Amino acid sequence: MNTPIVDFVKKYAHSNTVRLHMPGHKGQNVLGCEMYDITEIKGADSLFEADGIIAESENNASRLFGTKKTLYSTEGSTLCIKTMLALVRKNGVSNRILASRNSHKALIYGCAQLDIDIDWLFDENDTFSLCRCEISPEILEKRLSAYEELPCAVYVTSPDYLGNMLDIKALADVAHKFGVPLLVDNAHGAYLHFLGEKLHPMDLGADMCCDSAHKTLPVLTGGAYLHINNVKYCEKAKSMMAVFASTSPSYLILQSLDYANKLLSEDYPELLNLCVAKLNQLKSSVTSAIKTDPLKLTVKGSYAEKMRKYGIECEYQDPDFTVMMFTPCNPESDFDAVKRFFAQNTVKHLPNELKMPVPQKKMSVRQAIFADYECIDVYNAVGRICASPAVGCPPAVPVVVSGEVISSQAVEIFRYYGIKKCAVLIENSQFIHN
Ligand SMILES: Cc1ncc(COP(=O)(O)O)c(C=O)c1O
Repeated sequence: MNTPIVDFVKKYAHSNTVRLHMPGHKGQNVLGCEMYDITEIKGADSLFEADGIIAESENNASRLFGTKKTLYSTEGSTLCIKTMLALVRKNGVSNRILASRNSHKALIYGCAQLDIDIDWLFDENDTFSLCRCEISPEILEKRLSAYEELPCAVYVTSPDYLGNMLDIKALADVAHKFGVPLLVDNAHGAYLHFLGEKLHPMDLGADMCCDSAHKTLPVLTGGAYLHINNVKYCEKAKSMMAVFASTSPSYLILQSLDYANKLLSEDYPELLNLCVAKLNQLKSSVTSAIKTDPLKLTVKGSYAEKMRKYGIECEYQDPDFTVMMFTPCNPESDFDAVKRFFAQNTVKHLPNELKMPVPQKKMSVRQAIFADYECIDVYNAVGRICASPAVGCPPAVPVVVSGEVISSQAVEIFRYYGIKKCAVLIENSQFIHN
């Protein structure tokens, strides 16, 4: 597959052209990447009005993923999530979305910006984890049946930060039975289309999804895809993305996305499948490993500190789980290091006894996010209304959502996840937006 953006920039970088345009570094290398960092000069196309090399490269990505349309984002899945919301939002009516409670805060910010109210789907598991939200098609059907006026979309996260995956095909079938689009936060699953068995949400019936290419593919941080399979959303997608995006997208990230097309059309899928096989072997030797998406190794217990002593840095840990992410770019020695570590180390893990509090909503997310707030110690927050979503980052999944009352149960969860401060509305504050 060709790489029109990479080729154009490389030619320009070596052309000795006098750069009287942005960026201000003028291609002088300090970090080493500046000569390839350009702006929308003649021939470079423009991300939100693409009809040249960027359009060609995005079409390559769309063919690779087998979608109706694939757009690039240089601002992560965060930008794609807001774009999906803008596309499903109906004009002139009040909008609601039915979303899984483990949603990343990008959903909440997007809903606040677009004045969309959120109804939550809760985890159907007995044991509590902030990151997880298992949803069965039966529960989704029950929830959708209860609406007099259907939500503008169903929104779920799969894989989640721990690597749990939902039955996207079954959920899509239910949503479509009601004529509601299914949006999937697939930030952690760009690679799922390239496995022997295709597990990507776009292969399983989702209308749209976001992929953080940078999380699981060899792409620079910030590189992401918005995939669309419902033709209804294709036409407006670019202009809706532009509403939320910078007018200076990074050409370094665009080149990285462009080059990923070449890798993915050549031997990368084979390397990916080899990596999954190696990781499966490793997983079978780690007794505390839980079932996850194919590129994650998640174990029960908190191992990050111990791992650092072995020169291993994991992706995430909380009091219950430690998450490690692998790709074909990890050399064999990384797998060996992790195997050795788990042969020599175990930590005790007791399941928590937390329960997700039933949220008590006082006002919309939009009203709460734009109101005046103060930051206080979580212990003093019981009974106050949450302003900005109270999250630890990662995983950026809120314990309490803006507009909800903070309960004593929620404070216990804050404490469990090490969150010490939260933003609460100043009592009697004037809303900036209603
Ligand atoms: C589940 C999930 N969704 C969305 C995002 C946002 O992705 P990005 O950082 O690409 O904007 C993240 C980031 O960690 C995430 O974990």
